[in-house]
Amino acid sequence: MLIRVFYVSTADGPQTTTVTGSILKTAQAWNARHGITGVLCQGQGVFLQVLEGDRDTVTSLYQRIAADRRHKNVEMIHCESISERRYGRWAMAHVSLSDLDPMGKIEWPEFDASSVTGLLVLARIDELIASGTVIKAADA
Ligand SMILES: Cc1cc2nc3c(=O)[nH]c(=O)nc-3n(C[C@H](O)[C@H](O)[C@H](O)COP(=O)(O)O)c2cc1C
Repeated sequence: MLIRVFYVSTADGPQTTTVTGSILKTAQAWNARHGITGVLCQGQGVFLQVLEGDRDTVTSLYQRIAADRRHKNVEMIHCESISERRYGRWAMAHVSLSDLDPMGKIEWPEFDASSVTGLLVLARIDELIASGTVIKAADA
């Protein structure tokens, strides 16, 4: 059974390109081998990630990610069973929420990590992807 989950978390330390690059490298290699697809959004001290794949694989990956010391306050936003993937093209796409200035303000005025909903996250991620300028993807 396929599921999709979203979570939000707080980075533990600055979100430098070295940190993000290392997370993405691991994620893209492992995910491609295990049928996981999704998007990692990052900016202003926050990570938002969408993971899609088989339920058992996503569940164990989520637990591993949640225990990672590079972030904290990992909160599940949404979990649903799906019939098809939305981000099937990417082992893990990367969307910067503040691409021009990684330390700058999130370009999402209504963003509130504690109350953001899955629908809002999907809509915003799709907007960012559609704008085409803020995505660095690796194929699934
Ligand atoms: C925000 C964030 C997102 C991550 N996303 C993934 C991912 O999609 N896939 C993955 O294999 N590892 C991901 N990781 C890395 C895992 O947490 C973990 O470091 C990695 O799977 C290696 O686990 P191990 O050290 O137990 O072998 C992520 C880490 C962070 C901080």
